[in-house]
Amino acid sequence: MADIAIPKGAELTQNHIATRVANLKPSGIRKFFDIVATMQDVISLGIGEPDFDTPGPITLAGVRSLQAGRTHYTSNAGLLELRRALAAHLYGRYGVDYDPDGEIIVTVGVSEALYLAMTALLNPGDEVIVPTPCFVAYQAEVILAGGVAIELPTYAEDGFQLRPEALERAITPRTKAILIGYPNNPTGAVASREALLEVARIAEAHDLVVISDELYDQLVYGVPHVCFPALPGMRERTLLLGGFSKNYAMTGWRIGFAAGPGELIKGLLRVHQYTIMSAPTPAQDAALEALLNGQHHVEEMRREYNRRRELIVAGLNKLGLETVEPHGAFYAFPSIGVTGMDEETFARRLLEEERVAVVPGTAFGPGGEGYVRCSYATAYEKIEEALRRLERFILRYG
Ligand SMILES: Cc1ncc(COP(=O)(O)O)c(C=O)c1O
Repeated sequence: MADIAIPKGAELTQNHIATRVANLKPSGIRKFFDIVATMQDVISLGIGEPDFDTPGPITLAGVRSLQAGRTHYTSNAGLLELRRALAAHLYGRYGVDYDPDGEIIVTVGVSEALYLAMTALLNPGDEVIVPTPCFVAYQAEVILAGGVAIELPTYAEDGFQLRPEALERAITPRTKAILIGYPNNPTGAVASREALLEVARIAEAHDLVVISDELYDQLVYGVPHVCFPALPGMRERTLLLGGFSKNYAMTGWRIGFAAGPGELIKGLLRVHQYTIMSAPTPAQDAALEALLNGQHHVEEMRREYNRRRELIVAGLNKLGLETVEPHGAFYAFPSIGVTGMDEETFARRLLEEERVAVVPGTAFGPGGEGYVRCSYATAYEKIEEALRRLERFILRYG
């Protein structure tokens, strides 16, 4: 058959893509993992998701949901039973009180909740202060919504806590919101109550919305997680984002939520109803099971993460890769200063020469220079082997 001739000039090009989308930086993580996927015998400390499968009874709840024919839309805001369970969970755990009918919306992961928050809150040119290093999507979500992400680096010497003076200096008449994420990806930092009280004071003084991504809230080790809206006066100016991906090992189910004052949630719901309609019904049923009966699974996984955390932090520090103790999530963020390499070179050589994958710290924004992210969401024995390989590498270059 003869080739169908495409008239010259008919091909679609980059020029057809909206400028704000074309200008988005490709994710530093993706780029790296496309290379990892082509290699054999790699130990990956690069993964940002639990290595555990979803606990059996939670999966079974999803299967039963499908078998029972629960294959239809739910209400836009999500199953009322799930919103009720979320409200009870948040009240029981943090003493923060949300009305399931109007103050909580079930989303497709925190990813969607971030998208909704930015789209609903920002007018073109509005600024959002984003402490970095942070989850790779934060800046992109702000930009996609027409806003401007003002990056505010945090530093190892402060335990990657925010400096209140720096936060206050970053505020302009265009500042609309502060987007914080603790426990932090990639540093593992858990914000102290004192640091968060400073954020609260500043948010109040400048009438800002605080978007608090608390996706890893149950994965803390030896320190409490402070739920931002539970601080005095903060419930009324905070959008709390959370979900099931990390705590319950449910990344693929894609369930998260946003909770906040009714007027804000109404805005998010307006965007959600036209873009998503409702989060997947069987996944919502599984999430409900996770909340009602899954706490012991979280605790089992948390204990195992903690064992690995102790192994990797001690191992990295012993090799001279100085690591601030991470108290949350499942990441360690060592300095690679002793090697004299930049983080991209370190990650590339470590992968090529020793088959260990880590993520260059700059993938997470300013403040990541000279650091790499090592995830310990991988088996204990694999971490032991990765440390042996790292030792060989450091002996060559350290
Ligand atoms: C801090 C943080 N927020 C949000 C997300 C997105 O999570 P979800 O699976 O709920 O969309 C991630 C995923 O890695 C994350 O690390």
